Amino acid sequence: MHAEIVVLPGDGIGPEVTAAAAAVLRTVGQRYRHRFDLHEHAIGGAAIDAHGDPLPEKTLAACRNADAVLLGAVGGPQWSDPQAKVRPEQGLLALRKALGLYANLRPVRPHPATLGAAPIKPHLLAGVDLLVVRELTGGIYFGDKTRDADGASDVCRYSVAEVERVVRRACVLARQRRGHVTSVDKANVLETSRLWREVATRVARDEFSDVTIEHQLVDSMAMHLLSKPRAFDVVVTENMFGDILTDEASMLAGSMGLLPSASLGDGRVGLYEPIHGSAPDIAGRGIANPCGAILSAAMLLRHSLGLELEAGCVERAVSAALEDGILTRDLAPERGVGTVRFAAEVIERIGADCHVAELRD
Ligand code: NAD
Ligand code: IPM
Ligand code: MN
Repeated sequence: MHAEIVVLPGDGIGPEVTAAAAAVLRTVGQRYRHRFDLHEHAIGGAAIDAHGDPLPEKTLAACRNADAVLLGAVGGPQWSDPQAKVRPEQGLLALRKALGLYANLRPVRPHPATLGAAPIKPHLLAGVDLLVVRELTGGIYFGDKTRDADGASDVCRYSVAEVERVVRRACVLARQRRGHVTSVDKANVLETSRLWREVATRVARDEFSDVTIEHQLVDSMAMHLLSKPRAFDVVVTENMFGDILTDEASMLAGSMGLLPSASLGDGRVGLYEPIHGSAPDIAGRGIANPCGAILSAAMLLRHSLGLELEAGCVERAVSAALEDGILTRDLAPERGVGTVRFAAEVIERIGADCHVAELRD
């Protein structure tokens, strides 16, 4: 197959981890005889510096025309002045909105080889396999923002249709898994959460009789996620709760650097990015964990290109490298390898794995 893939490296460790993921995609292309054309474009702080705009018109146009988009991370201290008129993060939010990517899939499947790095007791983590579906284009992130002399406000609004479509997506995904959805809200306080709960209940009841749904308040969910993570299958929640809960969930896996994500809408183009940020504290040192970015590339192969065999090949190669004790420094501070070495180990294992796959074909 022929696919146009836009790569948006962004800031901080973004370029380091996207380089690793792009190398993996090129390897998959070679081994499986696909033509992947990868084109880099500017976003975030890098785009502010070069073009004065965190999402230049040319970048957005390239994303709209692509088959899929792979992104690193945006942001950093040099663009974080509270008085700044334009911020790197605005570019990412505008991109998600422009492409209509309302469902952000964040799978959490701790790997046995990284359990030791997690701050949670290993016996609680064995067998954890959950999928957070985070609403991505609504809520407090996108409501009106005001600032005056004595205060500021951020409006949180959800329409019925916005809740329906993301809950529907979560239920469809649950159907392909263990058939259980946990909807997370703050319905004891927030009106948007009361709407969320009402709509989620109705959609699940009327359209998904084979899916069970339960509701959980976000504060106690933050606790249950650590004390009984195996209890969850699909977790669906609004934009900001999903952002916070998934950084917490990364600690079930052992590092922020491990978790991938796919942002999908009803349109053609999907956006794939690790859940972590630009990690200014380690940027430029070649030690970032590229797993989240590489596994995001696997999600790209699966969800945007329909290449399930190739996606599985990348996922198995990452697992095999971890199993063989190849760990980056976030997971093994004393003896950890760098970003490039980890990617090379994955690439080597894709070769071997693909060879087997070719024989099967
Ligand atoms: P962060 O995710 O960048 O870093 C949090 C911690 O995790 C840091 O100690 C970092 O070193 C570590 N970490 C993150 N990714 C890692 C990796 N791949 N390998 C090893 N360690 C890793 O969060 P932050 O420090 O709160 O935010 C920094 C900047 O990133 C901010 O400007 C923020 O807005 C931005 N950000 C961007 C995205 C995105 O582009 N999708 C996501 C989150 C944060
Ligand atoms: C993420 C990030 C972004 C978000 C920021 C950088 C806008 O934290 O992708 O998780 O909050 O969505
Ligand atoms: Mn986040």
